Amino acid sequence: MARRKKIYEGKAKILYEGPEPGTIVQYFKDDATAFNAEKKAVIEGKGVLNNRLSEFFMTGLGQIGVPNHFIKRLNMREQLVRTVEIVPLEIIVRNYAAGTMSKRLGIDEGTQLPRPIVEYCYKDDALGDPLVTEEHIAAFGWASQQDMDDILSLALRVNDFLSGVMLAVGIRLVDFKIEVGRVFDGDFQRLIVADEISPDSCRLWDMETGQKLDKDVFRRDLGDLKDAYTEVARRLGVMPKTAPVTKPTLIN
Ligand code: C5P
Repeated sequence: MARRKKIYEGKAKILYEGPEPGTIVQYFKDDATAFNAEKKAVIEGKGVLNNRLSEFFMTGLGQIGVPNHFIKRLNMREQLVRTVEIVPLEIIVRNYAAGTMSKRLGIDEGTQLPRPIVEYCYKDDALGDPLVTEEHIAAFGWASQQDMDDILSLALRVNDFLSGVMLAVGIRLVDFKIEVGRVFDGDFQRLIVADEISPDSCRLWDMETGQKLDKDVFRRDLGDLKDAYTEVARRLGVMPKTAPVTKPTLIN
């Protein structure tokens, strides 16, 4: 069988040419990176979890009419998605202060924000994805005013959906990042949610204990990343039931 053509390899995913024009196979790796890939590790099983979780979120978004690239899951690590032309922005929505916002503005992590705040970063690894304003975006032509209106609307709809889904399982959606891409239908172009939505790209805190269930566990060495992601998947009912783990009994 002919080998599939690799289109792109990123930090956490590989994209292969899909079986039909306009499709791409998105493969989720086990690699975890943080601080613009200065910190790296392989977390066995992370790719499987993120493939399932991204499927879960994208499918749910599709059901409430939020357009996204997901077509179907192919296997444990791969999903078929629509080809898009990625807008070179990382769109961050924050409900509570954390991470770079806390650092930049001196606001304690966990402080509730007066309303969801949307930020834009320019997607460029070499520059460390710098924060940009809508002025930069318009002046450099990364997105038009119509695109920005659509991006804001998509980002806030994703926020409403994800916040609700998480709240229902006792998890606070602190913040998240999405990416959007252009698809062309004849002469028309529209924007859809692309890339992935997973605990790699969200901050998720247990509502009762404040325990972190996202990539900060890896960034800040807070424990086992796979356990944290498995807990999110378990609460959402995403992973197929597995046999209970029996710990060996110590005999004195
Ligand atoms: O680091 P910062 O606080 O700006 O991150 C905000 C949110 O965006 C976090 O949920 C983080 O996981 C996500 N993010 C991401 N990819 C990046 C930068 C941030 O998924 N390159």
